[in-house]
Amino acid sequence: MLQEQILSYLEKNRDEVITGGQIARELGVSRTAVWKAIHALRKKGHDIATLPNSGYRMQAASDGLSRQGIEAHLSTKKLGRPLELMESVPSTNTYIKGLDTASVPEGFAVVANEQTGGRGRLGRTFHSPAHEGVYLSVLLKPELDLHHVPLLTVCAAVAVSQAVEQVCAVSTSIKWVNDIYVQGKKLCGILSEAFISAELRTTEYVIVGIGINTGAPPADVKDIATSIQEITGRRGLRNRLIAEVLNQFEKIYLDFLEGEKRAALLSAYSAKLLYGGREVMVAEAGASYTATVLGIDETGALLVRLPEGIVHRVIAGEIRIPEKGEGRRHEPQG
Ligand code: BTN
Repeated sequence: MLQEQILSYLEKNRDEVITGGQIARELGVSRTAVWKAIHALRKKGHDIATLPNSGYRMQAASDGLSRQGIEAHLSTKKLGRPLELMESVPSTNTYIKGLDTASVPEGFAVVANEQTGGRGRLGRTFHSPAHEGVYLSVLLKPELDLHHVPLLTVCAAVAVSQAVEQVCAVSTSIKWVNDIYVQGKKLCGILSEAFISAELRTTEYVIVGIGINTGAPPADVKDIATSIQEITGRRGLRNRLIAEVLNQFEKIYLDFLEGEKRAALLSAYSAKLLYGGREVMVAEAGASYTATVLGIDETGALLVRLPEGIVHRVIAGEIRIPEKGEGRRHEPQG
């Protein structure tokens, strides 16, 4: 398709001026066809400048999603191969779930420019406006014991965290279980959904959904959420970030499946764990109580010390810093 070809040409020559004639000759089409395609690409969010009497330039800050822009940085063998790009979808996780997953290869990934029904953990919604975030889901088919499945989330969290550090040159933290924080604010959330064969009690597949704020964070959550734009002052990093998340995730995931470097994975996660040694409110299975964060165990569960000194494993739930005057509530059982 002409738009794809032009995009590829401009992405390869990002920040350089290319004449309409050059593109037309290269692709064997008319200048009018080039002009029309560029117009359509602009509508899709690609920032392509027209320079009078000289040509077109894909601006350095252009943040339009493109296969070409992603593939220029992608070095995976499995993850993101193939990769589907969508303009708008209710939820990339739900989209994959709706496919005949048995015939979709492991590593298949979907990226959307917008989600109209983005989903977060614990039944929450994930605000996913067009052009303002990375909304990425990856299909995995690991042969794993059920009790190891939560560690995939640990793999994803470390991968995103490393990718953000690489692309943006900032340091990141992980709030258990899988939120990525920068400078005390949430940058990214991860929703992992495992589908279990009830008969065989094995994992059929897992969808790992990653949402990263890249544009301006919404005004109503600006005290608790941040974005790539806020952190770096830049736009234009979405494609590279997607590729780097997939690159890091593949490396960590394959090592994990091989059983290699599991200790290294857990220590990379622990080193980034937010609130280590601090008193937090734990919300778990309807209970809410204060405890001190100790770390995670080899299954990815959070270890906390209760006020009476007992060490407790939190398997599913959430932690946060208590508000002023917020005290101890129900103790967990067992
Ligand atoms: C959270 O913060 O609670 C998790 C948010 C996960 C959002 C991502 S965006 C891509 C994928 N599709 C969804 O509907 N959700 C995940």
